[in-house]
Amino acid sequence: MTTLGTPLSPSSTRVMLLGSGELGKEVLIALQRLGVETIAVDRYENAPGQQVAHHARTITMSDPAALKALIEAEKPMLVVPEIEAIATPMLQQLEDAGVVRVIPTARAARLTMDREGIRRLAAETLGLPTSPYKFCDSFAELQAAIDGGIGYPCVVKPVMSSSGKGQSKIDGPADVQKAWDYAMAGGRVSHGRVIVEGFIDFDYEITLLTVRSMGADGKVQTSFCEPIGHLQVSGDYVESWQPHPMAPAALQKAQQIAQAVTGDLGGQGLFGVELFVKGNEVWFSEVSPRPHDTGMVTMATQWQNEFELHARAILGLPVDTSLKSAGASAVIYGGVDAHGIVFDGVADAMRVPGADVRLFGKPESFLKRRMGVALVHADDVDTARSRAREAAACVKPREDSPAS
Ligand SMILES: Nc1ncnc2c1ncn2[C@@H]1O[C@H](COP(=O)(O)OP(=O)(O)OP(=O)(O)O)[C@@H](O)[C@H]1O
Ligand SMILES: [Mg+2]
Repeated sequence: MTTLGTPLSPSSTRVMLLGSGELGKEVLIALQRLGVETIAVDRYENAPGQQVAHHARTITMSDPAALKALIEAEKPMLVVPEIEAIATPMLQQLEDAGVVRVIPTARAARLTMDREGIRRLAAETLGLPTSPYKFCDSFAELQAAIDGGIGYPCVVKPVMSSSGKGQSKIDGPADVQKAWDYAMAGGRVSHGRVIVEGFIDFDYEITLLTVRSMGADGKVQTSFCEPIGHLQVSGDYVESWQPHPMAPAALQKAQQIAQAVTGDLGGQGLFGVELFVKGNEVWFSEVSPRPHDTGMVTMATQWQNEFELHARAILGLPVDTSLKSAGASAVIYGGVDAHGIVFDGVADAMRVPGADVRLFGKPESFLKRRMGVALVHADDVDTARSRAREAAACVKPREDSPAS
């Protein structure tokens, strides 16, 4: 049985989010609605989630000592990682010592913080189908891996990176040096390790949101949302839609893969399982043990969006993953490098039938920074997609000029 307290009182249920971007912000809002006392942590001040939480803390989350000190001082009931760049070995230590419970588990946070832990688990331990791959620490090793069997085309990614940073496709021998240099410049930490993967010529890719929640019998049960289709440009998501139609055999394989990997990672919470599909063949790509960026579409399509599902699952509450409507999302990029930008055209975007807009409130905009998202519900996915693109295009971020 779950008992929830009153925030800002001795009975409070305290939850700490590590990472308070646009995804963390929505998890925090979902927790706030249940009267949970929230602590939003990020590496910079006034991060989106910090603006909607009871408490805001700014630390370097990859610094083990700083992370330990903060958790010991705040004593949250749950620590919820929302990003990958966290000192996860320290989370593991604190969890092992019984200081805190990490969502879904400290081990899941650790294995998914770089590409190696999760890929080896999925392919080598669980025997799930993945692209062929090799890990390399130098240009020479990369070239040898390609020549030794990975072949062309292939994809190179820093082991520590997300949103396509440092990632590129290699079509032939002439591209290898460029891909290596790009990976070295784009990784989160400069230790120079990459994964090279054989290119999968998939028909489409999906995110299968998978929830591990507590059943009435006191056992964890697994439920699946409808598949989310998405479009990635340079490794970054620009559009997503739900439901993505799938042949029953492919859907069954996708769910089996998602069940296997989330079952091994364990704990409670929502996972975003990324899969490639060609005909009835399905490959595991990667998994986030937390809400997924492509899952923002569920704010328009599900009775309980992925953030609410995560909040409920981690608190031991029941979930409903059912679809409310077909829908789509389209990313609104900053388009400028500036602080405190303004957004024109929001009203026009909202006049598109079925459209809604979320602006994340990030203090600083970059050309390619995700600053908001357009969300659309419609009778069918094609209509939703074109309306989401239309609504996103209406929103025009610009630098705030003193005269305006
Ligand atoms: N082996 C591959 N074959 C074909 N396409 C691939 C392969 N690996 C990656 N891609 C494409 O690049 C996209 C991003 O790759 P991946 O998810 O591994 O990177 P990421 O940096 O973790 O991105 P994100 O953080 O947005 O999930 C994939 O969604 C897919 O479209
Ligand atoms: Mg990905």
